[in-house]
Amino acid sequence: MKVLVTGGAGYIGSVTTRVLLARGHEVEILDDFSTGHREALPPGVPLHEGSLLDAGFVDRVLAAPVDAVLHFAAFSLVGESAVRPLKYYRNNVGGSVNLLDAAARAGVRRFVFSSTAAVYGEPDEMPITEHAPTRPVNPYGHTKLAIEWALADTAAAAGFPAVALRYFNACGATPELGEDHEPETHLIPRLLRSLLDPAAGFAVFGDDYPTPDGTCIRDYVHVADLAEAHALALEADARPGLSVYNLGSETGASVREILAAAAAATGLPVEPRIEPRRPGDPARLVAGNARARRDLGWRPCRSDLPTILRDAWDWHRRHPRGYRG
Ligand code: UFG
Repeated sequence: MKVLVTGGAGYIGSVTTRVLLARGHEVEILDDFSTGHREALPPGVPLHEGSLLDAGFVDRVLAAPVDAVLHFAAFSLVGESAVRPLKYYRNNVGGSVNLLDAAARAGVRRFVFSSTAAVYGEPDEMPITEHAPTRPVNPYGHTKLAIEWALADTAAAAGFPAVALRYFNACGATPELGEDHEPETHLIPRLLRSLLDPAAGFAVFGDDYPTPDGTCIRDYVHVADLAEAHALALEADARPGLSVYNLGSETGASVREILAAAAAATGLPVEPRIEPRRPGDPARLVAGNARARRDLGWRPCRSDLPTILRDAWDWHRRHPRGYRG
């Protein structure tokens, strides 16, 4: 298929682009490099450099027809979204509306959207299935849920099948591509950076949660497994309307378990400070992934902690300053 990947210079978009190319798809990338990295682009892939907020630009990109759109481009800092909500509504919702509008008029035949576990907020039941109520607790989650609604309505009206993939905690790396955000807020890259540069320091945010070791439990899913899920969603039998899938490993790991896995993968001592809880962190988030397994044939086979920490460490060690070196 001919596929337009928005956010193809970002963490998950760049890994997915490689998987699509390896599976014989023809890929074009749209990115404004507000958070993505030119170094993460594959050689020879056509690039449309510009913003989704520029409706004329998006129309021109889609004037040359594509079969499908994979939409990764978004701001994704939960904390920042609480301080600057309209930055998130403008970019995430506004940009997606322009993209959906152009895609519907261009006759795109499939649309795959990067959604998030943040749409669930703090669910009552674990593991979280796709039937759980959507009750986001921050503006980032609100914007992603708003896009899911816009996507469902547009898919119904325009008659194209659409998929929303709700990621849990993306992590890990491939030999070429890794996680490099500025600022970095995520557990694993912050921890590994602190092992490379002890001056950076590392803190566990809260050890008094109602979990067996007192630290928060999350569902860590390897970026290569996420990328494969996108390819499967693209290639799956078309279902009318919007299909929603959780992408997680169905296994929870606490912050302390991640620290132990990092110590094992690196051979270095991990000695964190303990700081107060970070506002808005739920104690436990674990995905039920039966639907993705059943409908897409997805198997998150690299999402065990030794593989995640080994791959992430391998990348960070070779890129101590991220894509800058
Ligand atoms: N944590 C630390 N120290 C750090 C960084 C994180 O202890 O330096 C802890 C957090 O408090 C949390 C856990 O590690 O308990 C994981 O935190 P991350 O920031 O890595 O990930 P989150 O679970 O907060 O967020 C992820 C995605 C979001 C998404 C959310 C869905 O990054 O985009 O899952 O719940 F919205």
